[in-house]
Amino acid sequence: MRRVRVLNGPNLNLLGTREPDIYGHQTLTDIEKKLEEEAGSYDIELDFYQSNHEGDIIDRIHEAYRAGYDGIIINPGAFTHYSYAIRDAICSVNIPTIEVHLSNIHSRDEFRSKSVIAPACIGQICGLGADGYSAALFVLHRRFKER
Ligand code: DQA
Repeated sequence: MRRVRVLNGPNLNLLGTREPDIYGHQTLTDIEKKLEEEAGSYDIELDFYQSNHEGDIIDRIHEAYRAGYDGIIINPGAFTHYSYAIRDAICSVNIPTIEVHLSNIHSRDEFRSKSVIAPACIGQICGLGADGYSAALFVLHRRFKER
């Protein structure tokens, strides 16, 4: 069984009440429950972690390496736009990682259109709401089957 870690960064614990016009009405728990169901059908085990602290996210990336995780799905929140430390952590562990954003970061404030983390990832999905997480999981599943 493959294992994938789903990481969410700052303020994503407020989904459901945080700017619903942009981020939707689903809570992070709603999103995680749905992903859990999908993972079951792919025979993938998920684990979830959300933090508002950069170092905690980095620690979870390092720990995923030590524990032999097969993939990471990460929504780094605003860290996307400036955390070279999270980018370096992803580069350091060599675990296939997909960056996800609920909103379309290319159609909002100019500062959001740049991700310093995306170059360390196999790809980026944005603007598809919570379906972006499902799409990322599907892609990892496909890759696991191919190998
Ligand atoms: C976000 C986009 C970021 O710009 C923002 O800071 C977030 C959420 C998204 O999921 O659309 O916190 O990552």
